[in-house]
Amino acid sequence: KWHDVLRAPGERRPGMSGEAKVGAGAPRAKITAPAVVALKRKGEPITVVTAYDFPTARFADQAGVEILLVGDSVGTVLLGYDSTLPVTMDDMLHHTRAVTRAKPSAMVVGDMPFMSYQVSAEQAVMNAGRLVQEGGADAIKLEGGARVAEAVRRIVEAGIPVMGHLGLTPQSVLAFGGYKVQARGEADQERLITDARTLEAAGCFALVLEGIPARLGAAVSRELHIPTIGIGAGVQCDGQVLVTHDLLGLYHGHTPKFVRRYAELGDATRDAIARYVADVKARRFPSDAESY
Ligand code: KIV
Repeated sequence: KWHDVLRAPGERRPGMSGEAKVGAGAPRAKITAPAVVALKRKGEPITVVTAYDFPTARFADQAGVEILLVGDSVGTVLLGYDSTLPVTMDDMLHHTRAVTRAKPSAMVVGDMPFMSYQVSAEQAVMNAGRLVQEGGADAIKLEGGARVAEAVRRIVEAGIPVMGHLGLTPQSVLAFGGYKVQARGEADQERLITDARTLEAAGCFALVLEGIPARLGAAVSRELHIPTIGIGAGVQCDGQVLVTHDLLGLYHGHTPKFVRRYAELGDATRDAIARYVADVKARRFPSDAESY
């Protein structure tokens, strides 16, 4: 499905008007699935961060990311769960709506939570449709390889762009026995490459690769026409995604080695609130200028 986008350098087609102009504050058109695929053709790395709320969506969009992922990681970094498994469709709709209310130019991808697509392809289409119709998402993401290919096909047939997700897929944490790097052995690597091809053939416009050896991330990226988005999958992926709360230092739980912290907003938040507490206790707040 996406091959013609890749084979038509320079050709403009509907939905590609949003070819990304990167950089903070640069005005740009809405970024669509074909525009994301075209970035791979141009060799331009694709930037993705998670967003679960209106202000983060605004800031990240202004910073120039191409994709805002309303990830089910909302469960661990924002809602206080130990894993993503308790996250529900209602949670995802609530947070997807908050993000799309920011009307970002970035594409908004809504994550399908655990048990919203595993039971049947019909259930998958219904729930993907809800993320688009009720949440305002531009695309959806789901985890898994060949076992979700039929669901992917059916969702794509319904007109909804689908992002796949292979490797250390957090919804399979119980089966993996923890958050462990996946596909270290040859047989698992071959299986992952086959899964990646299957997802591309099923119609995915992009594929998240999480927690796999960098060489495998590079091999899958070479193999596929659609872009790979890495998280702990090496620098040769076609794009990168980080959980915003990790990137900003707002989450102090388990932090894998692929996380790079660009700020320490957790510490800054604690310090700011501690100064406020001290000011109130000492009657330094509010001042006359802050009073009526
Ligand atoms: O839920 C999420 O944030 C994700 C990313 C880590 C890819 O799936």
